[in-house]
Amino acid sequence: AVTRTFSIIKPDATRRNLTGAVTKMLEDAGLRVVASKRIHMTREQAEGFYGVHRERPFFNDLCDFMTSGPVVVQVLEGEDAVKRNRDVMGATNPENADEGTIRKAFAESIEANSVHGSDSDENAKIEIDFFFSEDEIVG
Ligand code: CMP
Repeated sequence: AVTRTFSIIKPDATRRNLTGAVTKMLEDAGLRVVASKRIHMTREQAEGFYGVHRERPFFNDLCDFMTSGPVVVQVLEGEDAVKRNRDVMGATNPENADEGTIRKAFAESIEANSVHGSDSDENAKIEIDFFFSEDEIVG
């Protein structure tokens, strides 16, 4: 089925001017950008967005990193969008990412790993709603 997922192009990627290169890989993987905006996340947004990781040792560093520069938040649409996006992103740790994936090509570390993608349809909806209103999504 055609579904939606949520993506973030992270500060390490925007800093290196890779917004277009990352988006091209998403598009080449069969995903369509149906909403996109460049924002500088507030601390409050980062802590809220990553709330499920609040107790993890890397939480504070993660929020520092995600607020360290601009990000591009996107809604992606396509056949099985969550899985399609996760396949093209590659493993969280770039050391484990397969050839041909975004993280293999661009990620600097497990933290500065260039992209975020939703891990389930349920979380995709929550994450899309966190950053976008329905009128900003144009299919
Ligand atoms: P993301 O998909 O955005 O969701 C949580 C993020 O935490 C993850 O990508 C990583 O970039 C980041 N992170 C930083 N350190 C770790 C770690 N040790 N284990 C897992 N994720 C980490």
